[in-house]
Amino acid sequence: MKKITIAIDGYSSTGKSTVAKQLADYLGYVYVDSGAMYRAVTLYAMQEGIISKDNFNVEKLKESLNSIDLKFEKDASWAKAHIFLNGKDVEELIRNLEVSAFVSPIATVHEVRAKLVAQQQKMGLDKGVVMDGRDIGTVVFPKAELKIFMNASANERAQRRYKELVARGDNIDFQAVLSNIQERDHIDTTRTDSPLRKAADAIEIDNSEMNLEDQFHTVLQLAKDRI
Ligand code: C5P
Repeated sequence: MKKITIAIDGYSSTGKSTVAKQLADYLGYVYVDSGAMYRAVTLYAMQEGIISKDNFNVEKLKESLNSIDLKFEKDASWAKAHIFLNGKDVEELIRNLEVSAFVSPIATVHEVRAKLVAQQQKMGLDKGVVMDGRDIGTVVFPKAELKIFMNASANERAQRRYKELVARGDNIDFQAVLSNIQERDHIDTTRTDSPLRKAADAIEIDNSEMNLEDQFHTVLQLAKDRI
């Protein structure tokens, strides 16, 4: 069977990573969570005092980029993949609302994007990869054989994210989650470098009313048609 590249883009919390991991496990492909890479850079910037509520030192961030090493490790399945920042497992830490609040401003910085896009392209060199993010079909893999653009209403997305955060014990309120999603959508779609856009040849899936199984089978069929 021929190996292909599968790019899954879309707004925040549309369930991109859930379907991407399922596909990668089913097809025996590598899964890359590009959002986790932007989140890990953000965590680094927070730990180094580069970004906080009242300060964002873009120059220091650019100078620090060479000190940031990112790696993924897979467990039994991609559902349990972890990202490592300079050798430390930060999978849990990068998912909190504080990182979510700073990640989109960090992701507007051209030098950050250039570093991460280069690493992402390297990870996809041999094909057989499912990558999710915001610019995968437009910038990282413009020649991907399958491009999906996922969408769902902001309210539905916030409900899902809220449930996820509550399930892992975070003490947050729904309105804060909804505001964060709307804020990230705004920054991600209006930034000058690689704004979130549906690629002209991407297939749009609105999963507001879809269950996970239907969503998986829809995307799997699209992949099978191209393999
Ligand atoms: O996918 P996730 O929601 O974890 O991504 C976090 C943030 O990282 C996004 O809101 C966006 O600002 C940034 N991002 C990006 N390009 C990607 C993936 C994520 O700019 N390919």
